Amino acid sequence: MLKKIFETKNCEQPVPKQLIESNINPQFIPQHIALIMDGNGRWAKEQGKPRTYGHYAGAERLKEIVRIADNIGVKALSAYAFSTENWKRPASEVNFIMKLLDRYLTNEIDTFQKNNVCVRFMGSRDGLPKNVQEKMDNAVQKTKDNTGIILNLAINYGGQTEILEAVKRIAAEVKNGLLSIDEINLNCFESHLYTKDLPPLDLLIRTGGDRRISNFMLWQIAYAEIWNTEIYWPDFSSEFFLQAIRDFQKRDRRFGGLNTK
Ligand code: IPE
Ligand code: IPE
Ligand code: MG
Repeated sequence: MLKKIFETKNCEQPVPKQLIESNINPQFIPQHIALIMDGNGRWAKEQGKPRTYGHYAGAERLKEIVRIADNIGVKALSAYAFSTENWKRPASEVNFIMKLLDRYLTNEIDTFQKNNVCVRFMGSRDGLPKNVQEKMDNAVQKTKDNTGIILNLAINYGGQTEILEAVKRIAAEVKNGLLSIDEINLNCFESHLYTKDLPPLDLLIRTGGDRRISNFMLWQIAYAEIWNTEIYWPDFSSEFFLQAIRDFQKRDRRFGGLNTK
């Protein structure tokens, strides 16, 4: 319902308290935010706990961030849950993450429904356990008509694979005479990516201190603003999320042009 507030110019409803207190302008909320939720393992290790405990705490944290993002009017949140490279980790850790995904997608469905959250996925199905794939299908099916925030979970996702898959599909369409080479432009290419129905990416947040992209949304980050923090993902509270948005609102996004501020 807050999204409606932002869409209506002469609204009578008050601007959410969280936004006033955080000094955030409701007119310039990033539409699409990507999260590289990193630092779960280090967070756990610092407390003398197994890495898996960090993943558990990280999944809990995501629930809070989805809620606040929806409350302030973000339209889409793309969250990196498992990369195509994360299979390199010990089987015990990978298995734990898969179990966690299964549980998250089972337990959160009612909350998604209650909060009008539409769940989507990006990544490759290959190699994912059957039960996880079933829960993914179920989540998409159950929430497909929800009109609130889109929670786009990146599972077995790699930006390079996403681009390769798009290239292969475009090549097949050309080969079958459905597309001519002249028709391959930016819009056409984007319509073959996992993110085809999502708004352009405005802001990429990486927690955990590393300053790299780790194969996330390589195409989509072209003009996204980047916000890094040393904070480990399980410690990334709503206050930090609002801090990132406040900082985003100070940026001068020139898109190759001249100053807009
Ligand atoms: C991110 O946290 C979660 C996944 C990659 C699944 P990490 O597990 O990478 O935590 P660190 O970076 O080792 O602390
Ligand atoms: C990126 O974190 C992947 C996820 C957050 C799911 P990683 O921990 O896998 O990235 P690297 O290995 O530090 O680049
Ligand atoms: Mg990491």
